[in-house]
Amino acid sequence: MSTLQLAVQKSGRLSDSSLNLIKECGITFPTRIARLKASAFNFPVEFLYLRDDDIPGYVADNVADVGIVGKNVLMEKTDDLEVIKELGFSKCRLSIAVPREFDYQGVKSLEGLNIATSYPKILSDFLKDNGVSADIHEISGSVEIAPSIGLAEAVCDIVSTGSTLVSNGLLEVQVVMKSEAVLVARPGLSGAKREILDQLLFRINAVQAANSNKYILLNAPNKAIANITELLPGMRSPTVVPLAQEGWSSLHSVVKEDDFWEVIENLREAGAEGILVIPIEKMVL
Ligand code: PRP
Ligand code: ZN
Repeated sequence: MSTLQLAVQKSGRLSDSSLNLIKECGITFPTRIARLKASAFNFPVEFLYLRDDDIPGYVADNVADVGIVGKNVLMEKTDDLEVIKELGFSKCRLSIAVPREFDYQGVKSLEGLNIATSYPKILSDFLKDNGVSADIHEISGSVEIAPSIGLAEAVCDIVSTGSTLVSNGLLEVQVVMKSEAVLVARPGLSGAKREILDQLLFRINAVQAANSNKYILLNAPNKAIANITELLPGMRSPTVVPLAQEGWSSLHSVVKEDDFWEVIENLREAGAEGILVIPIEKMVL
């Protein structure tokens, strides 16, 4: 029996969300203990708990088959992996930040500066693309303190809430790239492993579809059904069930979370009332 080796972050910004996604896929595994490896109970996958920075390398070198890692770390470490799926969590940006009193006038203001970062490759590509030459000072952690201790004049680091920058007197002035968690694989993964990956992907897609859609129920006069059906096409078309009250029906459908508020207004205008919106557990299209 083949097993898919899946590398996930041991602890940090991605680890909880990564394991949550796996759980939502109905895959159960031992609760995290201080171990490098753990096998799932009900799916042919083995987890490798690693530092996120090491994940692209381990996948590229065949130690793991697939991994969940930030796009930022992936871009920094290797060009050799295939992004199988953008996972939509752990969203952040890699940005340049300067001390609050710095007079920033655009990328040209970075000319000749000393910039501290853990992402020398991405930063150097960015500077090159913008025709700026600056010194890159690579450090592996606590980048945000570099300006205050005189190690650098600017930083290029991950920003999520922005609170780390604020508490270090820094101002985000330039987004270098946007990032989120991605599922990566070595290109050309072989037969049995590829099949397991496809099963996992099928489940991830069902979870993502469910999370981005809502189940919606409403009551409407029968003469409004045609209009409402246009507003709520759902998966094929809405279910229409007669109410006990003559001339009225209940419509059941699915609505995209992002469109939700706009659709609700249009539904009310079309004559809908008693609108209920309910989370969906899994959704297979
Ligand atoms: C990043 C970055 C900051 C912090 C920013 O570290 O280096 O310390 O997150 O987050 P905030 O904008 O919400 O304050 P990360 O969690 O990626 O840790 P790592 O570099 O050790 O992997
Ligand atoms: Zn890291």
